Amino acid sequence: MSKKYSFLITAGPTREFIDPVRFISNPSTGKMGYALAQAAIEKGHCATLISGPTSLTPPECVEIVKIISARDLCKAVLERIHDYDILIMAAAVADYTPKSFTPKKIKKSDADMLLELERTADILKEVGKTGFSGIKVGFAAETDHLEQYALSKLKDKRLHIIVANDITRQGAGFGADTNAVSIFSDRNDRNDIHLKPKREVAAYIIDYIVEYIASARPN
Ligand code: CTP
Repeated sequence: MSKKYSFLITAGPTREFIDPVRFISNPSTGKMGYALAQAAIEKGHCATLISGPTSLTPPECVEIVKIISARDLCKAVLERIHDYDILIMAAAVADYTPKSFTPKKIKKSDADMLLELERTADILKEVGKTGFSGIKVGFAAETDHLEQYALSKLKDKRLHIIVANDITRQGAGFGADTNAVSIFSDRNDRNDIHLKPKREVAAYIIDYIVEYIASARPN
């Protein structure tokens, strides 16, 4: 019987509020992250989902932690990471957040408006600083130079595995029920998964991670 692991999986978008009625976000729906949690459970592992705002129903038997902003997500991951074997960062995390939050609705004027943004923390890099000894899996949603950008994120964020997808491809963008991905690892390999339902892509990724761990263990 193959070994069972605990997965911490992030999913969905983050929202960076400007005032009580406006935020900066992205079109992520969380489908890939939720499919990964479902696939992990179906294969007998345990999974916790840390999810940004989505309309999805969490899979049964998955613990769910709801977050809104990149800052919340970072805190939720760092608080829990040491209880898990594997982190999969499938969430589409905002890289910038408004420098200040205006507690009352901002009223318009005829003048243009300049919004000052500041960087959010890179969560995968923050996890790296904690001494987490498990497996770190990132995602890279790209519009161009897929392999080049994915490999530079793999190295820069010190990941074991990165799952890259070309979001301009029909059926592989935000919100689709299908995906086509290329999986790269720090062992210099590449696996291309052609267009399939996200459920099947997720099952492949979970198997790939488990095999990656198994092939590193001495017999
Ligand atoms: N990520 C993260 N913390 C952030 C931004 C992204 O941990 N503040 C994670 C994502 O969840 C994903 C990986 O890093 O697993 C790559 O995210 P992506 O948005 O593709 O890349 P960025 O590092 O944000 O770089 P860029 O936006 O310039 O492509």
